[in-house]
Amino acid sequence: MTDTDLTTNRTVFEEVQLGPVTLRNRTVKAATSEGRSPEGKVTDELIAFHRGFIDGGVGMTTLAYATVSKEGYSAPGQILMARENLPGLQEFTAAMHEGGGAVSAQLGHAGVVAHPRITGVQPIAPSKFKNPTSFTKAREMTHQDIKDVVRQFADAAELAAEAGFDAAELHFGHLYVVSSFFSPWINKRTDEYGGSIENRTRFALEIVDAVRDRVGSDIALIAKMSMDDGIKGSIWLDESVRTAELLDQQNKLDAIELTQGSSVYHQMYLFRGDIPVDDMAAQQKFPFNVGVRLLGKRILGDYPYYDMYMFESARQFVPKVKNTKLMLLGGINNHDHMQKGLDAGFDFVVMGRALLRQPDLVNRIEADRSTDGICIHCNKCMFTVYGKTHCVFEPQYARNA
Ligand SMILES: Cc1cc2nc3c(=O)[nH]c(=O)nc-3n(C[C@H](O)[C@H](O)[C@H](O)COP(=O)(O)O)c2cc1C
Repeated sequence: MTDTDLTTNRTVFEEVQLGPVTLRNRTVKAATSEGRSPEGKVTDELIAFHRGFIDGGVGMTTLAYATVSKEGYSAPGQILMARENLPGLQEFTAAMHEGGGAVSAQLGHAGVVAHPRITGVQPIAPSKFKNPTSFTKAREMTHQDIKDVVRQFADAAELAAEAGFDAAELHFGHLYVVSSFFSPWINKRTDEYGGSIENRTRFALEIVDAVRDRVGSDIALIAKMSMDDGIKGSIWLDESVRTAELLDQQNKLDAIELTQGSSVYHQMYLFRGDIPVDDMAAQQKFPFNVGVRLLGKRILGDYPYYDMYMFESARQFVPKVKNTKLMLLGGINNHDHMQKGLDAGFDFVVMGRALLRQPDLVNRIEADRSTDGICIHCNKCMFTVYGKTHCVFEPQYARNA
């Protein structure tokens, strides 16, 4: 037996510790940007949306995506982690706790994915960069910009702790600002934030340091980090395993959630399954919609869906990460998938689309271990993030209040 074949005695429906928090089971609702906060604030619809997952049995739901600053939005209708939103955030966490589940806040800055149409400012990146999907041009971050973003993450995490969140999930994936530093495709810097993978991980380590200093042991800290992104010359496992090792050696995170893909290019590498070109075109005005119809498949990339599609990559991290718990994501749809992940050394299983389709899937699985999720990975939910994120087979979730 090798390290990567290790079998644990973990089970899905048992209590589990995540930093200072005890979760009622090992399941987590993945961040799926909700589009229910038109003014950056908590709304009744946002609370109702997440109560669906809590009432449906997940151990922890994830508020997504909460931007650490006005410049960091990745889509409209997202939460802004600003002090004036504290009462709403407190109401949100109280409602989740009342339902018996825990709640995490995904904190992010979208970097090259942030669109000036939403943020009103030019996007930022480690080096000058033109986004091949949106064609926006990012400017190179100064040392002051780097310090500012580190402080914004710390401020946002402090606010999350004050608001009663059990955990903060730091977005180190999808080529948002932190993972754009990991990527040699985007990061061409020659200072201490560029070059070696140790240098390209420095910004992430500084954020974790600043956040942990600020929140102490009040809440759990998770990093959602990219293993690879399906883009030539960008992030791949040989280096991302090293990034995870560095984060693990720093020993300030409670968990690392492993993700793939990006929101910059070949977006389907993150999702896999059907390519919603028509839905993407519908977001554009003439003549861009015609361009999208012609080139959309090439931009988004074509990657077939298969169950547990991140498993083989993610298990490479198990023997390398010693102090930090690991969360497995990607195409988890039933109890066998969950148990396979736990047996391979993961501590948590995280689900996105399966729960958008069936918010009560965890309860169904607990009642009958042979239950299969019914999401068909049509990926039409992807473009509902520009309205109210929902499964198109469940339009009532776009109206909940
Ligand atoms: C509609 C939609 C919105 C998403 N929004 C986010 C987000 O805000 N932040 C994030 O890190 N990932 C986001 N994701 C990615 C998911 O968290 C998850 O990584 C991905 O869906 C793979 O998991 P799954 O196979 O269980 O769906 C989104 C996914 C979907 C389908």
